[in-house]
Amino acid sequence: MRNTAFPKEFEDLLSRVGRRVLAGTHPLCGALANPRTRFLAQDDLLDRTKAQRVRRVLEENLADKLETIEKPIPPDSIWGMRHDYGERLPKTSRARTIYFESRREPGVKPAEKLGLVRMMRSQSFRAFAEALAGRKLASGWGLQVLRYGPGDYAGPHNDHHPENKDAKGGYIDLHLSLASPAVAHQWLVYSRAGHFSEIVSVARPAAVTAYRLPFWHYTTPLVGKPNAARWVLLGTFLYR
Ligand SMILES: [Fe+2]
Repeated sequence: MRNTAFPKEFEDLLSRVGRRVLAGTHPLCGALANPRTRFLAQDDLLDRTKAQRVRRVLEENLADKLETIEKPIPPDSIWGMRHDYGERLPKTSRARTIYFESRREPGVKPAEKLGLVRMMRSQSFRAFAEALAGRKLASGWGLQVLRYGPGDYAGPHNDHHPENKDAKGGYIDLHLSLASPAVAHQWLVYSRAGHFSEIVSVARPAAVTAYRLPFWHYTTPLVGKPNAARWVLLGTFLYR
């Protein structure tokens, strides 16, 4: 049986403010179409109570179904250097995840059973992304679930996909970010005008973040009690 924490339509997880965005009557509509806005983080768009319930259900049902992402700093990035100040750092990260590329990926079937996949594939999820993006987005978007525990992070990267003809001109990511009360802090740092000058807390219980990619950013290590966790439900939307 499906868990009732996950509504059929993403719309049912929205707060009153979130519904105004979806209806196109909130000033946030089209925010990412502004050439100066690459990123936004809002904690008034989701219904707090419902979002917290979703987080608890994720923790109870999926925490042990995730696959580990473990991309450490390559030792060669130091000892392979030939020139002073010639550092090169590929994307590093540690977290746990569900990839949805195939139904055989670990965690996909439990996520389907919960009703999580249905909600993340619901039309209002895309419509909400379109409202923030200020433009039409393709059907058939990508999904991912991430869980950051203590010490989990993502090093500097830009999410540019020059080899993918549909993504190389840019795309939109929409994240539902659900931090447990045991999280002390975690930050998203991103670039503006060529510097890592912008910093936003992602240690919020019921946040929506949206990205007009690519741009440089990183996520600092999650700090908190041993059971602290931040769940991210992520949709990747190509332009139509
Ligand atoms: Fe990223």
